Amino acid sequence: MSDSYQFPADFLWGTSTSAYQIEGSPTADGAGPSIWHRFSHTPGNTFLDQTGDVACDHYRRYKQDVACMAELGTNAYRFSIAWSRIFPNGTGTVNKKGIDFYSRLVDELLKRGIKPNATLYHWDLPEALDNRGGWLNRDIGEWFCDYAVTMWDALGDRVDMWSTLNEPWVVTDGGYLTGMLAPGHSNLFEAPIVTHNLLRSHGMAVQRFRSTRAGQNGKIGIVVNLEPKYPASHSSADLQATKRADAYMNRQFLDPVFQGKYPEEMSEIFGEAWPEWPEEDMQIISEPIDFLGINYYTRRVERFHPDMLPLKTRHVPQPQHTQTETHWEVFPEALTKVLLWVTERYGKFPLYITENGAAFYDPPSPIDGRIDDPLRIEYYRQHLRAAHDAMRQGVDLRGYYAWALLDNYEWAHGYSKRFGLVHVDYSTQRRTIKASGRYYASIIASNGANLAD
Ligand code: FCB
Repeated sequence: MSDSYQFPADFLWGTSTSAYQIEGSPTADGAGPSIWHRFSHTPGNTFLDQTGDVACDHYRRYKQDVACMAELGTNAYRFSIAWSRIFPNGTGTVNKKGIDFYSRLVDELLKRGIKPNATLYHWDLPEALDNRGGWLNRDIGEWFCDYAVTMWDALGDRVDMWSTLNEPWVVTDGGYLTGMLAPGHSNLFEAPIVTHNLLRSHGMAVQRFRSTRAGQNGKIGIVVNLEPKYPASHSSADLQATKRADAYMNRQFLDPVFQGKYPEEMSEIFGEAWPEWPEEDMQIISEPIDFLGINYYTRRVERFHPDMLPLKTRHVPQPQHTQTETHWEVFPEALTKVLLWVTERYGKFPLYITENGAAFYDPPSPIDGRIDDPLRIEYYRQHLRAAHDAMRQGVDLRGYYAWALLDNYEWAHGYSKRFGLVHVDYSTQRRTIKASGRYYASIIASNGANLAD
């Protein structure tokens, strides 16, 4: 690994968040409920039945949060738009007040020289659409395009970086296979349909983007979460299991987008639940994009296990390495590996690390005005070095967004896992930049050079 860590002069140094996790006031100003609103208000689904009703109150405190970004020295910010603020009934009438909120946020970012990167879908489907079948209904392609075009018309003059979907794998796996996330279904036959409708909606939106004014200057991409899979042994059962796990998580979405076909392992994994898809859909899905966003947190070691359906593999913990509070192994070299893998498999392409970060056992409140989080500092140091290493080996990496700007609502974990560079006291909404936030600021100020220390 190189010991000089200079990044390109135009590198984007950002932070990342999502709407339901930070905004609060989910039904204010005419917004409709989302599936996350319903899921979190259904007892038993989340840690201590916690909801995003208040979260970080970012909906009202966004100016203060943009000031925090400026204090960190970031020049980019990735956020998501809550679809149900824009279309409270899923389709039909547009809620102007919802648009106004994002418009104010974007203006505030631009005023501070921070480049906005907007994600259209980060898991919070309007409940009204779920009531019509949601991601199981093929009509969602049109619903999604109407929403996307509305946002491009409203913000396309100021936002030139758009992502269609955040982590479609999690939507399918958590929302429709394990049921751990909204809408909480657990159905082998639904999961493939959801995957396909997500991808088809993505492709349709990319096609529509090209014909809008926003699409003339702006760029569009998709954000996937990738997790390199390693075999627990060299036995052929473990090697096959690792291949299945890799197809399911890493290639299920990227092969269709870049190559117009699903990995062959999909029908092996889902059996009769995996349908034949129309060829014209695959053409829509593979409509060329401008960049790929990669969320990276950890890797997985896989061992064959016949009872673990549908993948027939079990994750083998690696206690010799640091584990985060969400039990994710800290394994920075797999970040280099995954960036190289994407470049090799799909060709050299503009990439962004759109999420990377860790929940650790922070003190619950500041001590003498400080939050010391040395494990998170180490996490960022190692992962930024790993990202730089990939660039040195030819990867076209254009930016990095730390997850997350603020401690926030970590889905089914509620407020129990803190990922922020900035601590949030949920009883007072006071923000305190953590030691890791100061560290990230110093990396940005030196454009990476400080990573050598
Ligand atoms: C990712 C999600 C993000 C956050 C982080 C920790 O999978 O995109 O919303 O929950 O994990």
